[in-house]
This record gives sequence, C-alpha cells and structure tokens, in this order.
Amino acid sequence: MELQGSRCVVTGASSGIGFAVAERLLRSGAQVTAASRSITAQMFDPGYHDQLHVYSGDLSEPQEVDHLLEFAHESMGSIDLFFANAGRAYFENRNRSNWNRMEDIFALNVFSPVFALTKLMERKGNDPFFFLVTASGMSHIALPGYALYAGTKAAIHQICDSMRFQLGRGQILSVVYPIATETGFFQKAGAENKPWPVQPVDVVADRIILGIEQDQETIIPFRPFYYSLPLFLLIKPLRRLYQRLQQPPQ
Ligand SMILES: NC(=O)c1ccc[n+]([C@@H]2O[C@H](COP(=O)([O-])OP(=O)(O)OC[C@H]3O[C@@H](n4cnc5c(N)ncnc54)[C@H](OP(=O)(O)O)[C@@H]3O)[C@@H](O)[C@H]2O)c1
Repeated sequence: MELQGSRCVVTGASSGIGFAVAERLLRSGAQVTAASRSITAQMFDPGYHDQLHVYSGDLSEPQEVDHLLEFAHESMGSIDLFFANAGRAYFENRNRSNWNRMEDIFALNVFSPVFALTKLMERKGNDPFFFLVTASGMSHIALPGYALYAGTKAAIHQICDSMRFQLGRGQILSVVYPIATETGFFQKAGAENKPWPVQPVDVVADRIILGIEQDQETIIPFRPFYYSLPLFLLIKPLRRLYQRLQQPPQ
C-alpha cells in the first residue's frame, strides 16, 4: 500500500509500538488519526500537526470504537489503513476468579479489533482497505503467567485467519506477531522481567511499515522465533516439568 497521502488510524498510539508506527506514517506523508485513552497532539512532532488528528477514548467500549471511526471519517474523509494495536496483558501466576478482569482483557485485545474490522467492512462495501492487528508471539506458544493474554492473542490470530475468507479484492487483513519488545508493556502487566529475546521498538515499527508497504498478510518482526516454534512444541513437556519443580510445595 502507498503510504504517501493515505488516511490511517492507529490505536494504542500514545506509546510503544503504536507511537513508533504513527510517527513513521506521519513521516511518510500519511494523515494519521492517533487514538488511545491518554493521547495528546503534544506527544508528536509539531511539524506533523497538520497531518495529525487525535482521538482520546477507552477502546474496550464498543461506542468508543464507533466514535473513533466516525471521528476518523470526519477528520480525514475516509480510512485506508486501520492499525488495531491497543492492547494489554496481566502477568499472574495464579489466575484470580474475577469475571470483570477476564472480560476487560478480551474486550480490548479481541472484541475491539474485531468490532472495528466488521464496522469498517460495513462502511467500505467492496472498496479496498488495509486492516492490521497486533497479535503476539504468544499467539503460538504458552508462557507461564500469561494465560489470559496468550488466549486473547491466539483468539485474534484465529479470528483473522477465518475472517480473511470474507474479504473482497483489494481488502487486506494483516496480522503482526511481535516477540517481546522494548516498551512499557510488561511493566504495565505487572511483570518484573520480559521474556527473552527482546527487540527494540524501532526495529518492530520498521518491519510493520515494510509489511504495510508490501501488502503482507503476515508480519513477523523476528523470524528466528518462528523458525524455532516446532522446537518449543517438542520441549513443551520438559518446560512443564521445570515449571512444576520451580513451584513451592503446597
Ligand atoms: N511489548 C511487547 O513485548 C509486545 C509483544 C507482542 C505483542 N505486543 C502487543 O503490541 C501492542 C502494543 O503494545 P506496546 O508494547 O506498544 O505496549 P504499550 O506501550 O503499553 O502500548 C499500549 C497502548 O495501548 C493503549 N491502550 C491500553 N488500553 C487501552 C484502552 N482501554 N483503550 C485505548 N487504548 C488503550 C495505551 O495507551 P493509553 O494508556 O493512553 O490508553 C498504549 O498506547 C499490544 O497489542 C500488545 O499486546 C506487545
């Protein structure tokens, strides 16, 4: 997809991967509607303010997703690229029995991007668009402490794979699978350490931009991780055993 002059929405654009991608889109000459709860125009280089629109809202609420789409259409005329990137995790070794907590993470990581995609499909009809979602390396492998989070990212991976069958010509549904990335994400999740290896956010953002420019349906910022996935499956019983030995006696 040609970025110059394109009309883009980026969610989770106040920090981390979303911010780095929004900055690159602005530099490429795109118009950007940047969204998150705490977003402000001051977060971005003033030189790009005439291309920038900011939308502040909690995107785990369906009405906020609706308002964002409405706002982006009014501000930019249409939407060529929607990057559904806002997301969160909980790090917890013992999952608490808390329905609201489960609902919250699925609302933001799964329902919100799927709702935005279906709304955009309704608006676009047969017109082309590029819809990109941030999944995770944890869409494919289990890590201790991230049961709910991995569940949301596995769900979004499978939903997108299935929804591609419903798309028309020129309509691209792309998924990016970052491994651990140098952002505030794990700290916000309550984890002291990040899983290894960790990629710089600039590398991930550059890879995402390349994927958009090349119309890729699958964007993999760190290829060696994906080549080693069969190995992870082979050593799964050993990892479980190791984990069990680490746990204190009940
Ligand atoms: N960092 C990693 O290691 C890693 C690896 C794989 C996948 N990912 C995925 O990458 C995406 C971006 O994460 P990141 O690493 O860039 O983390 P981040 O720096 O914490 O960014 C998360 C973004 O989501 C926004 N957000 C959170 N809750 C929101 C809500 N309810 N409504 C609207 N916006 C909300 C945050 O802004 P506000 O607080 O202003 O709302 C922030 O802009 C997430 O989907 C994450 O699951 C991250």
